[in-house]
Amino acid sequence: MSAVPALPPALPAGLLPQTPLTALAPMQDVTDLAFMRVVAHYGPPDYFFTEFLRVHAQSRPEPHILRSIDENETGRPVFAQLIGEDITHLRRTAEALLHHPVAGIDLNLGCPAPKVYRKNVGGGLLREPQRVGEILAALRAAVPGLFTVKMRVGFEDARHFEVLLDLVNEHRVDLLSVHGRTVRQMYRGEVSYDLIGHAAKRVRCPVLANGNVTSAEKAASVVGSTGAAGVMIGRHAIRNPWIFRQCRERFTGREPFRTTLAHAREYIERLYRATAFPGLAEHQHVNKMKKYLNFVGQSVDPDGAFLHDMRRTANERELFTVCDRHLLAEPDREFAPEPYPGVIARPNCEDSPSASGGCSLETISA
Ligand SMILES: Cc1cc2nc3c(=O)[nH]c(=O)nc-3n(C[C@H](O)[C@H](O)[C@H](O)COP(=O)(O)O)c2cc1C
Repeated sequence: MSAVPALPPALPAGLLPQTPLTALAPMQDVTDLAFMRVVAHYGPPDYFFTEFLRVHAQSRPEPHILRSIDENETGRPVFAQLIGEDITHLRRTAEALLHHPVAGIDLNLGCPAPKVYRKNVGGGLLREPQRVGEILAALRAAVPGLFTVKMRVGFEDARHFEVLLDLVNEHRVDLLSVHGRTVRQMYRGEVSYDLIGHAAKRVRCPVLANGNVTSAEKAASVVGSTGAAGVMIGRHAIRNPWIFRQCRERFTGREPFRTTLAHAREYIERLYRATAFPGLAEHQHVNKMKKYLNFVGQSVDPDGAFLHDMRRTANERELFTVCDRHLLAEPDREFAPEPYPGVIARPNCEDSPSASGGCSLETISA
């Protein structure tokens, strides 16, 4: 009897049939269990991705990242993301993760932090398509279920993009997320939706469009212009955790939920409670909150007054006093669906091309 070719594993169904997919982008120090729970409360994405698990000879899956898989009761699938280049240890880690309730294994080909790409992992690998091919082959062989990739369009430029897309086909990647910037661009500059559209035509798997999807309106326009299967949203889900619900409403022709400053105040309170843990000192907790609030502040007022005052608080009482002053004076005023132009969440990254930057709130929103 001739061997029957294995059917490709199916992607988990989205929350609404025949509607573009939504995913929360992996974000180091952000997309932990607490944040996933908070986002799910306001309307979950179709898919979650963990922040990257570092893979090298001594690595073991980080316990706090495993919690976001093992204890995830949001009902939505979680893909575990790996970053590394050592094939033996990538295989070992993927196999270990398959004993956890992961939806699939995702490979990071995009992290732009110099300390990461200098080790030739993350975005650094985009300079070496041949090496990418070897890694994809090994992980494809190790992962019987869903194997997904998240990549940028290139390192300096998109010169290897075609070859990389061909490798995605050759190694039967099941889902491709494309951040439409190069590694050199980090988080600045235009996102090339044309290149994302090109990927969506060229690869056989569904593509998630990533980069500056700021609102439900923008998501609809990006899906329309790229032909992508859906959108992956990062920083704008920190700013506006209602965004996945709003996307579904917009995709199905309904008016997206209108958020107010009072809603934002409630979100901040929820996030504060969710991110507390025994032993976390108050000032550390407040500093952690400021990193999220850098993004939230982009929708509060057009002159950045909330951000200005929030950044100067030193303890919980001061932080919530500032929140009350800016968010509850006019509680019904709209929490802007798009960030106010010129209100910058992360000055280090946006202002200075030489900023060390990277995949961390420490560097991105300082
Ligand atoms: C704080 C932060 C941490 C990030 N960490 C990761 C990561 O662990 N893995 C990854 O593939 N991308 C990471 N990224 C990149 C995002 O997943 C996403 O590609 C990028 O932010 C662009 O999407 P956005 O415009 O929707 O934020 C990170 C981004 C930020 C802002």
